[in-house]
Amino acid sequence: MKLSKQIPLYQFDDSFRRVILPSPTSDTELEDQFYKRKSIRQFDETELSKDLLGELFEPLRQIRTKERVKRLFGSAGGLYPVQIYVYLKANRLRDFEGGAYYYDSDHHELVHLSDGDDIKADLYNPLVNVPIFESSSFAIYLFAGMDAIEPIYGAHSERYTSIEAGLITQILETNGPKLGIGICQVGELEVEKLKPSFQLNDRHRFVHSLLGGPLPNHSA
Ligand SMILES: Cc1cc2nc3c(=O)[nH]c(=O)nc-3n(C[C@H](O)[C@H](O)[C@H](O)COP(=O)(O)O)c2cc1C
Repeated sequence: MKLSKQIPLYQFDDSFRRVILPSPTSDTELEDQFYKRKSIRQFDETELSKDLLGELFEPLRQIRTKERVKRLFGSAGGLYPVQIYVYLKANRLRDFEGGAYYYDSDHHELVHLSDGDDIKADLYNPLVNVPIFESSSFAIYLFAGMDAIEPIYGAHSERYTSIEAGLITQILETNGPKLGIGICQVGELEVEKLKPSFQLNDRHRFVHSLLGGPLPNHSA
């Protein structure tokens, strides 16, 4: 992963007319909002409870609206192809077993798939992400089930599933801190190594991942 400085993305000189937009939110308020979402890379070792994980995933579960089955995030065609896989470290949990799980969003349940023995620090970039993995209590892997989307959206499917994973990520990143859980996104890892633990095959496309755990100095 390259760590680079931001480069200017626009160069409009004074000859362009500008419309000044109202800005009712102070910088301090926006900064407060930033601190309620920002990436967290060092976690507390407090054990996580089942209740807390339930609350973390709650905004991702399926709901039955007057129209049809929906979620709190958008999905092209309402297909919801992005699936959530969770690795929970055994020694960082209070009241249930660690391992590799599938988050069944239809029933708001974690389905135990394996002990997750393949999920180790060596999946991650040693310089940047290994320390984050070591400190974390759990990892979330977002995989798109391509069979659920490709027949309908063909060549657009990759882009659409990336957008959906981004929406899921934003929900987790904003909901987590409300519960005392911090999150860090991780875009690259050795995906093939973790597939056996989650029973994933070639029709599952890796889209994104996150590492998380209790916020420092916060009782979980
Ligand atoms: C697609 C994507 C991949 C990322 N991968 C990593 C990563 O591998 N390691 C890491 O520490 N942060 C990663 N991040 C987090 C960014 O570094 C972070 O969002 C950015 O620096 C802005 O900081 P903030 O999240 O605290 O606002 C990733 C973010 C995105 C959107």
